Amino acid sequence: MAHEIEPISDPGIPPHVHRKADEDPVAAKRAERQVAILFSLSTLGTLLFIFSYVAIPDDVFIFLPIMGNTNAHQLFLGLGLAFSLFFIGIGAIHWAKTLMPDNEVTVQRHEFRSTEEDRKEFVKTAKEGAAAAGLGRRSLIKRSLGLSLGLVGLSPLILLRDLGPLPGDSLTKTSWKAGTRLVTDPGDRPIKPEDLEVGAVAQVLPELAPGKDHHKLSDIAKDAVLLIRLRPEEFNLDAERLSWTHEGIIAFSKICSHMGCAVALYEQQTKHLLCPCHQSTFDVTRAAKVLFGPAARPLPQLALALDAEGYLIAKQPFSEPVGPSFWERSS
Ligand code: FES
Repeated sequence: MAHEIEPISDPGIPPHVHRKADEDPVAAKRAERQVAILFSLSTLGTLLFIFSYVAIPDDVFIFLPIMGNTNAHQLFLGLGLAFSLFFIGIGAIHWAKTLMPDNEVTVQRHEFRSTEEDRKEFVKTAKEGAAAAGLGRRSLIKRSLGLSLGLVGLSPLILLRDLGPLPGDSLTKTSWKAGTRLVTDPGDRPIKPEDLEVGAVAQVLPELAPGKDHHKLSDIAKDAVLLIRLRPEEFNLDAERLSWTHEGIIAFSKICSHMGCAVALYEQQTKHLLCPCHQSTFDVTRAAKVLFGPAARPLPQLALALDAEGYLIAKQPFSEPVGPSFWERSS
């Protein structure tokens, strides 16, 4: 027996239900104020973003119960931007739900260019829609929306500050100087040769200057050094480079000479250092000569010596720039 198929009826558009603000001028005014408050909160968020960018140094940390030590600069930048965009969105939704016309509009799809009549009709409808949205009448919304959108639009401009000033030679210099002690990272403890067993590897930094209590991230990015201990007879170095080692201990910049990743893997058996980013491989026994990968030059070697108290120190600054080779080519 054939089944009869029920025809589907067009449910049509539900009847328009008047909102309070459609009929009550007091409710409309209240809704307008609420929208303006939301846009103003967005403005405050953008001001927080700008303030964080300009006034909070990027090495200030605050302690938060869940997140622990948190970089204040980045935290408030993120919060400011989140507030700014969130309240613009919420304000627009509240405006649309309470004050904008909520009649459904059906537009027939046309092929190619519309007729002149349709185009004129569209412009007329758009103008009517803008008038119905009340932007002209609702100056409070217009001003608060203009302010919040204007500030959000302008805030990327302040990021242009990061384009300057030019770095000069700061990228080619590190904090290592003749006589600077090597200290553990973390811990900032000076190191004696006997602290490092044969085969061991350690990351070290230059000792903090008097009056400073932490290393700046931008300094660590250039100053990090790997300390490796071999048996002295395992080196295959010329006389000068051999004199930069101490009792089998050799030091190299940890910043890859390809693109600046941290060279973090040491193969004890082969005595190779590996960069995890693009697999550049450096031979520790031959002054970090490149064995494989895209790095164009060895890792810079730091000359070592002992101070009067028996701690390892730098004999001199790095004799060449650390990090990616393109800095050399651009200078
Ligand atoms: S950054 Fe080290 S190999 Fe590319």
